[in-house]
Amino acid sequence: MARRKKIYEGKAKILYEGPEPGTIVQYFKDDATAFNAEKKDVIDGKGVLNNRLSEYFMTGLSQIGVPTHFIRRLNMREQLVRNCEIIPLEVIVRNYAAGSMSQRLGIAEGTQLPRPIVEYCYKDDALGDPLVTEEHIAAFGWASQQDMDDILSLALRVNDFMSGVMLAVGIRLVDFKIEIGRVYEGDFQRLIVADEISPDSCRLWDIETGQKLDKDVFRRDLGNLTDAYSEVARRLGVLPKTNVAKPTLIN
Ligand SMILES: Nc1ncnc2c1ncn2[C@@H]1O[C@H](COP(=O)(O)OP(=O)(O)OP(=O)(O)O)[C@@H](O)[C@H]1O
Ligand SMILES: [Mg+2]
Repeated sequence: MARRKKIYEGKAKILYEGPEPGTIVQYFKDDATAFNAEKKDVIDGKGVLNNRLSEYFMTGLSQIGVPTHFIRRLNMREQLVRNCEIIPLEVIVRNYAAGSMSQRLGIAEGTQLPRPIVEYCYKDDALGDPLVTEEHIAAFGWASQQDMDDILSLALRVNDFMSGVMLAVGIRLVDFKIEIGRVYEGDFQRLIVADEISPDSCRLWDIETGQKLDKDVFRRDLGNLTDAYSEVARRLGVLPKTNVAKPTLIN
């Protein structure tokens, strides 16, 4: 069998060249990192769950007309996606204060914000992904004004979709981060939702109990991360009812 070409290995995923031009394969690893990779561990089953959950959210988004990179899931740990030029920004949407926003502004975690607040961080691990303003983005040419209008509209649509999906299963979408990619279609280019949407990139709190069901379980040592992600998957019907974290996961 021919060996695939590895394009990039990140903290959570590996990218391989895809079978057709313009496609890549995303392999979801079990590695978990936090605090700019200062804290690291291998969490059995995390990659399988994130592959499934990202497929679920991306598929739902395309069903309501939000363009995404997702093409199809290949197996337990891999999905085929459109290769795109990633805009070097982490696009964060917050509905409730938490994490770095609470620290920066002194707002108690869990305080509902008057409206969804969109923030941008410059994707640069060496700098710790610093918060930037639209002034920086325009001045340094990371995205055009048209791109920024499109990014804002995509981010808010993803927020409405994800908030509704989560609310339906008793989970509060506190905040999330997405990455946006540029694809070219003939003379046109457009922006699509790329990377992943999973409990690694969202804050998800049980509405009744406040229990955290996202990567904060790992960041703050609150218990078993696979159990938390499995609970999200189970509620969404992405996994069968029994707890099948690793070996018996169906393909
Ligand atoms: N459709 C896509 N086309 C091209 N690159 C993509 C696509 N989706 C995601 N990526 C990129 O693939 C990489 C995924 O790997 P991973 O999430 O492990 O990276 P990471 O360690 O978080 O690093 P980074 O700081 O680069 O995001 C990221 O760099 C992400 O921007
Ligand atoms: Mg990443």
